Order: sequence, then C-alpha cells, then structure tokens
Amino acid sequence: MKHRLEQSTNALSTLIEKRGNTFYPQFHLAAPAGWLNDPNGLIYHDGLYHAFYQHHPYSQDWGPMHWGHATSTDMIHWQHQPIALAPGDDYDKSGCFSGSAISHEGKLYLFYTGHNWLAAEGDDSQIYEAQCVAISEDGIHFEKKGIVLPPPEGYMHFRDPKVWYQDGKWWMVVGARDEKDQGQVLLFSSETLFEEGKQWSTDYIILGKTDDKNVYMWECPDFFPISQDNEFAIVFSPQGKRTEGYQYRNLFQAGALIGQWSPNQPFKPQGHFVELDNGHDYYAPQSFMTPDGRRVSMGWMDMWNSPMPSKAEFWSGCFTLPREITFDKSKNRLCMVPVKEVESLRQEKNTIKPLTLSHQSIELIDNTSAIELDLTWSLDSQAEKFGLWLGEGLELFVDNQSNRLVLNRHYPQYNISGARSIPLPEGCQLNLRIFIDRSSIEVFVNQGEYTLSSRYYAPQDARSLRLFAMSGDAILLSGEYWRLNHIG
Ligand code: FRU
Repeated sequence: MKHRLEQSTNALSTLIEKRGNTFYPQFHLAAPAGWLNDPNGLIYHDGLYHAFYQHHPYSQDWGPMHWGHATSTDMIHWQHQPIALAPGDDYDKSGCFSGSAISHEGKLYLFYTGHNWLAAEGDDSQIYEAQCVAISEDGIHFEKKGIVLPPPEGYMHFRDPKVWYQDGKWWMVVGARDEKDQGQVLLFSSETLFEEGKQWSTDYIILGKTDDKNVYMWECPDFFPISQDNEFAIVFSPQGKRTEGYQYRNLFQAGALIGQWSPNQPFKPQGHFVELDNGHDYYAPQSFMTPDGRRVSMGWMDMWNSPMPSKAEFWSGCFTLPREITFDKSKNRLCMVPVKEVESLRQEKNTIKPLTLSHQSIELIDNTSAIELDLTWSLDSQAEKFGLWLGEGLELFVDNQSNRLVLNRHYPQYNISGARSIPLPEGCQLNLRIFIDRSSIEVFVNQGEYTLSSRYYAPQDARSLRLFAMSGDAILLSGEYWRLNHIG
C-alpha cells in the first residue's frame, strides 16, 4: 500500500495547488482538495478526535475510494493528516469503502468495506464486498490486515461496518441488500475484535429491514442507545425511497428508526423511519462518543448526483458541524444541536435590537462568509412570509399559508432549484440558530427539534443577509450574531 499512498499523496498535492476558495468552507471539515463523501471512522483516540472520510485524492469526482484523515483537539479545528488507506489489494481492489474505528488497547482499528467490481467498473450488478481491518500503532500509519468478515450467503451488497463494544462482546452492524433487493441492516458479534488469521463468524441476525418495497439498500448503518431503558436508534441512509408530500425530497435520505433492543433479542421498532435532517444536503451521518459522554454525529453535507459547483475549484463535499444527538422521548425523535465547542469560533457578539418589519426588507450583514446567527421570531404574524434572504438565491422563511418553515434555493445557472421545509413548531416563538459558511447553511430550529442543512452557491461578493416580511408585519423578538474564525 505504501507505493499507492505515495502516489495518491503526490496527486493530492497537485490538486491542492489548483484548489479554488470561492466555495471552500472556512469552518467545516473538507478534504484539502479532491472529492469527499461519507464521514468514516469518527473517534476519540489517545487524546485526539479523528475524522476519516471517503476520499478521491486524484480528482474532484468520485473514484477509487481512499480514506482521507484529519485530527482535532476539539472537533472544530482540524489538522489534515496523510491519507490513511489506499485501495488496490486483492480484497479492496476497487475501493476502501465506508466504515468505522475502534480504539482498543492503545491501537486504532479501522473497519472498512473492501469493494471489488467483478465485471466492468461501476457495474453494481456484479460486485464482491467484504469487511476488512487496518491497524495503527501511532494513529497515523495503518497496516492492512485483510478480510475479517466475508459476506454471508445470499448477500452481494454488504458494506459500511460500524463496530462497538457492549456486554462483553464486540458487535458490528453492516448495511445490506437481500436477494429480493430489499434494504436491511445485519448484526454480527465476536468475542475478539481481531485475531491474526481469524475471521468473525458470518452468523447474523437481521436487526432491521425496510417496510417499503421500493427501498433496495440501507447504507451506512449506525446503532446506539438513546436512553437508559434499552431504547436504541438505527440510523441509516436508505436508497430507493420515493417522495411523499414534503418528505424524502432528496434523491437519498438519512434518518432513524427508534426501538427497543437488548443483546440477543430482535430489535422492536416503535414508529417509522424519520429523516434526521430536512435540508437538501445530508447523507451518511456517523456518530461517536466524546470522552465526557456525549454522542456526537457528523454527516456528509452534499448529495449523490447533485450538481456540485465547487468541482470547478478542484474539490467537492464537506462535513456538517459536529452535532450532539439527544432523544426527545415525548416526540419519539432524535434532536441535534451543534456541540458547545463551536462557540470557540465566535468573534465579538453583535446584538440585534427587537424590531417589527412591515412589508419590507433590511440588510443585517453585508457579507456573510462565516457567520453564526441566533434569531427568535414571534409566530404571531399576519405576514404572508417572513425570514431571511441570503444573496439572491437562498431564502429561509416562515410561510404562513402552508404553516411551514421553508428553505428555498434558486441557482438556475447550476441547475439547482427547489425548497425543503418542516412544519412550524408548536408554541408562539420560533428560534433559529443558523451557521453560514462560504457554500453551506445549517439551521437548528427550536434547540434542535429540527435541522436543515443545505449547500448554496452565491458569488463571493453577493452574500449579504437581509431580514424581510412580505404582505404584513413580522416581529423579531431578539437576535444576535457573531462572525466566526476560520479553522485553517
Ligand atoms: C454511501 C456509500 C457507502 C459506500 C461509500 C462509497 O454514501 O455509497 O455505502 O461505502 O458511499 O464511497
């Protein structure tokens, strides 16, 4: 692998030289150049947070998957590290696909999917996928150890292992597609994490499976406790789901199924699949534990097959901010708020005085390249719509006709246009905590009850932020904002 790592590092250096910055994030993790998709191997190990990611260092397009790598002391300020995994061995000939990390007895273990096209490259009808491991003593350089879990009989699409330790055993969930092309999550267990020359048993139980005939694959499963009462969430990214009204509007979704589970029991779902984020660009989130016991998750803030204008700058894809996940039992929903460490990015605080907007718009910030904004609106308004405009192509507003909060984008020059929305929360106030980077917006609604994450593509000199109300009055009860520091 050493030679291939060197080659890919050289290729990446050439791309870094060419990389443009119009859309490149100032406080979100992205590859230094080239392509990025899923977060992989998120973990706190030996005093540092590690984030790996699906990476193609040779170009801004998806290609044979490598694992890019970055480390951080606070999940916010990231330092790029050498590429961790390069494909090309017998068991990962066509790619080192997604997976997770384990910190065990001082070593860092990466569990990933060895992907192999058996016919033509890109022909998904003939593939071989098996779970592999690579181990590191120093947290930077990895030695591949080959396959630890081959696919059980009847499974060809079998990928994205997430491993954890519980009740004296190691457990692994893997995303799968059965012989009838239905999405599932399979659960495996093992007494030992890794033993030279030994594999995990292919005995499995089906932890969860689709109840929607159109869903042919569940990718990137994650599985974790959400309460003290054996309540667990399976978080996964289904493929094939059709739109239903306002829901599942993205090509693919990422969301959660909540239920009861204890070792050696089936998972008993309570409720249905619920999207975890309601913006345009959110996929394949993965969670990990902080040393002080918070469950934190990051997702890929982009979408398969979306136009990606940043490709013109020789890079594509970035992560969401790290978000703490909690469970709201009364609503049977997972909530997400940015980790408290994001506050370390804040410069001086600006307070916005309460104001009433009467069929007008006002400029709040002339240039929004890196901003955190906290706005509390009264929901007692007769305006047809009110909220904010970012440049010319993005608006976030309360639509008083449909009773929804809408995030609408319109960049016809990039073939990007369309709205995502959520029901307005109950109560008479709406709190919006908003993070705006050079090409992304993340909106946390009423302390994380809902989130909307989307990419936007306004020219650098046209990113002013305006507050508006149309056809009636809207009341901003309070507001503040901060310019944010760059992380790089
Ligand atoms: C999800 C996914 C995974 C796969 C990886 C390949 O976005 O399709 O299932 O491991 O991306 O890059």
